[in-house]
Amino acid sequence: MGKKSSDRINMAVIGLGVGRWHADSYVQESNTNLVAVCDPDEKRLTQAKEHYKVKGYASYQELCEDDEVDAVSVCVPNYLHAPISIYALEHGKHVLCEKPLANNLENGEAMVASAKSNGLVGVVAMKFRYTKEAAYIHKLLEDGKLGDVYYGWTTYLRQLGGIPGMGGWFTRKPLSGGGPMIDNGVHFLDVLWWLMGCPKPTRVSGATYAKFGPIGKGASGWNRVPTPEEFSVEDLATAIIHFENGASVLMDNGWAGFVPNETIGLRVMGTQGGATMWPFAVCKEADGRIADDTPDLSNFHVDSQFYHFADCILNGKTPISSFDNCLNVLKMLIAVYRSAEAQSEVAI
Ligand SMILES: NC(=O)c1ccc[n+]([C@@H]2O[C@H](COP(=O)([O-])OP(=O)(O)OC[C@H]3O[C@@H](n4cnc5c(N)ncnc54)[C@H](O)[C@@H]3O)[C@@H](O)[C@H]2O)c1
Repeated sequence: MGKKSSDRINMAVIGLGVGRWHADSYVQESNTNLVAVCDPDEKRLTQAKEHYKVKGYASYQELCEDDEVDAVSVCVPNYLHAPISIYALEHGKHVLCEKPLANNLENGEAMVASAKSNGLVGVVAMKFRYTKEAAYIHKLLEDGKLGDVYYGWTTYLRQLGGIPGMGGWFTRKPLSGGGPMIDNGVHFLDVLWWLMGCPKPTRVSGATYAKFGPIGKGASGWNRVPTPEEFSVEDLATAIIHFENGASVLMDNGWAGFVPNETIGLRVMGTQGGATMWPFAVCKEADGRIADDTPDLSNFHVDSQFYHFADCILNGKTPISSFDNCLNVLKMLIAVYRSAEAQSEVAI
């Protein structure tokens, strides 16, 4: 694993949509410097370059020639995660890549192989793992306080109007990899699976629906029927995932639908305790009854994904959400699509 002699990692951000959040974070964290930004979109590049007073590159290939840059955040559309991450790794840069790891399994596997063969740190920006609530529940799991965790559930359903980037890369399957299941579902499944101890998935049953996107509904500010190329993903997906240890997950994820409110939830259930996120709550057994055991987390510290990434490079720590580990989540998501297509349960 590459190390640095200084106590800060020099970061560059590639892709300046959500990448602006990465850039802000690298300015703030105590173990990173922001030294460059990159985007072929001239307006976004100029704005960011001027705002952060750093070097700007329109081409990621040129950025990767910059010896001052130790590591990059890859914040580009999903289909570019693999080519850009692999190019950066081959040029000696550690990579923090936005979610999902990649738009398909082949690309994800190539990213894992590249990080390994180049001996560099590859982390996926699975932001929920780095929240206080998730870190606390994960500690309960590690300390055995939840007992045998046998069931997990998560939901995230948006109302009509929630389809992002209608007609652009988000809603084109070859570019995104899929709709809400791979876009947001990746966050929820990822943190849930991590809180269940990363059991080995064995079989998946999934269903996908596209009830609103194809008729031009479900995205705010869009009022025509899209072409099949413009909308080729689902707008709702549901799944049941089974694991080798007997545990299972039930989940759904939607960009658009008739739900009275935007709905968000996650639950893990063990033989000695349970926990939820959104809202955060923990329960255990006391005197033969269920008792609330929700702590006040105001003084509970967790490193941000940005600090943690730099810490892994500087101090050889094991990444919490490595490419390798997150490939398993991508496998489950792709299996949901395979199952939906086959209309039957599929093995992983
Ligand atoms: N973690 C989160 O909460 C979160 C939120 C939003 C998006 N994302 C992820 O971040 C990624 C980007 O999403 P977004 O919403 O910012 O998309 P976006 O389309 O708003 O921005 C992507 C940017 O990448 C740039 N880009 C395209 N090709 C490029 C190239 N060859 N080199 C450099 N830059 C290039 C585009 O010009 C654009 O500015 C996606 O993978 C998405 O899934 C994560």
